[in-house]
Amino acid sequence: MLKICFKMKCVLILCVLFQLSFILMVTSSPRVCVIGAGVGGLSTVRYLIKENIKFTALESTKYVGGTWRYDERVGQDEYGQPIHTSMYKHLRTNLPKVIMELHDFPMPKDTPSYPPWENYYNYLKSYAEHFDLYKHIKFQHHVTSVKKIDDIWRVKYKHIPTENEFEEEFEYVVVAAGHHSKPHRPIFPGEHLFKGTIIHSHDYRVPETYTCRRVLIVGSGPSGMDISLDVAYVSKILVHSHHSKIDFRTPFPKNYIKKPDIKEFNGTGVIFTDGTYEDIDDVIYCTGYEYHYPFLDESSGLNISAHSVVPLYRYLVNINQPTMLIMGLVVRACLVVALDAQARYATALIKGDFTLPPQEVMMRDWQRQYDVIRSTGRPLSHIHLLAYKEDEYYAALTEESGIERVPPVFYKIRTMNMQSMLENLYTYRNYAYKILDRDTYEKILLEHEDSPKNIDCTSTS
Ligand SMILES: Cc1cc2nc3c(=O)[nH]c(=O)nc-3n(C[C@H](O)[C@H](O)[C@H](O)COP(=O)(O)OP(=O)(O)OC[C@H]3O[C@@H](n4cnc5c(N)ncnc54)[C@H](O)[C@@H]3O)c2cc1C
Ligand SMILES: *[C@@H]1O[C@H](CO)[C@@H](O)[C@H](O)[C@H]1NC(C)=O
Ligand SMILES: *[C@@H]1O[C@H](CO)[C@@H](O)[C@H](O)[C@H]1NC(C)=O
Repeated sequence: MLKICFKMKCVLILCVLFQLSFILMVTSSPRVCVIGAGVGGLSTVRYLIKENIKFTALESTKYVGGTWRYDERVGQDEYGQPIHTSMYKHLRTNLPKVIMELHDFPMPKDTPSYPPWENYYNYLKSYAEHFDLYKHIKFQHHVTSVKKIDDIWRVKYKHIPTENEFEEEFEYVVVAAGHHSKPHRPIFPGEHLFKGTIIHSHDYRVPETYTCRRVLIVGSGPSGMDISLDVAYVSKILVHSHHSKIDFRTPFPKNYIKKPDIKEFNGTGVIFTDGTYEDIDDVIYCTGYEYHYPFLDESSGLNISAHSVVPLYRYLVNINQPTMLIMGLVVRACLVVALDAQARYATALIKGDFTLPPQEVMMRDWQRQYDVIRSTGRPLSHIHLLAYKEDEYYAALTEESGIERVPPVFYKIRTMNMQSMLENLYTYRNYAYKILDRDTYEKILLEHEDSPKNIDCTSTS
């Protein structure tokens, strides 16, 4: 009898203890690891602070702003770390400033409509100052490994100057490491014979290197189009190889030569798929970037390839491990605005303002997207394409999480900007956009200078 009583007591105590620890678990604030202090990391940190959520924010470099900081160096930095940024000296944003602002933090009034990188970088620094983010970020701390062990994320990171290593445990991981840093580039036959220079746009900095030279640019994405024009002012010829079906109506300069894809290189130049040949001195591959998260392993449950990260719910939540969020994996969107909305959604999730649907439901949702892509014969990379679905996306984030909605006018301005860009790459930045209300905007032609003249290379042979 006594024995039984004792046992009951034990069970009771155990029960109470169990309940207590359970209560502690659900009420104690979860710990969050934020990887990166670019736009995605900064905005996440801002909202986590606001909600009093415990976090550790880790950034490899000494700086905030990620790819928006121009660094004239290429290759490695003074610590032997790869240079992360892909910024080039003459870059101006390809979206108007009104759709590149972070929530509730307007750019200074005198900021140009399409700011040079420097204005935008300063804007991000003042954002970090205004919300007092610097002291919350561990700079020069590089994440080397993120592993899910039992129910916890075990994160290893290294202080770069001292090489001291740390390990910490987290309930949530927010990956904001960016994805415009690891070059993607094809290799063509005969490249080893070629005597000229070859770089990827990740390492493009200034056009002067190419003064009066015969330059080949490969690719017609945003970098390919923009760098082509930047280089064409100074180069002798600008050969542009791409297979885009987009009708670029831009009045290209006389030294601009459009070519189809590369067939092969030889010692002096390039033969294209139409059989034509051009003498070439320098090649710049503007062939995009690869998704690359070297710190993740199979315990993340993600399937990562050069051009896709799957399966994700809302382009963000790792479905196989829903306590991991990968920021900024949307293509054709107001990326900064999307990052900001994702940061607010992630914070609301971690805070417990809403719960995710069951895993099977998220997976079914993802599978539907996947099936559409497969049945239309498109590459898996299109799983990240927002494009005309951008506004629906913002509506869905709000409906599910209760965050303030990104108004439809953002998507409308982006669409108009795209049209202007296709009409004329030289003039689309001569406009300002004024947001009138959540649905409407005004497009204003600004006073502007004519684009500079190409330099004269006729005397050089
Ligand atoms: C040349 C160029 C031009 C662009 N122009 C525009 C534009 O005009 N408009 C626009 O909206 N977008 C533009 N973009 C897109 C741009 O990437 C986004 O605007 C935005 O900067 C993305 O922010 P992010 O935080 O996702 O990534 P990033 O800015 O790349 O920041 C990621 C940060 O994570 C850090 N990091 C990475 N790995 C680790 C690790 N293992 N441990 C610790 N820290 C790590 C990096 O050091 C970096 O600071 C452009 C991109 C490029 C490359
Ligand atoms: C490369 O090919 C072109 C076209 O066939 C030719 O004119 C040129 O001499 C070749 N260069 C070399 C180094 O073989
Ligand atoms: C990853 O993708 C490959 C190829 O699409 C597929 O065969 C594999 O099952 C996927 N793995 C996981 C873990 O989803």
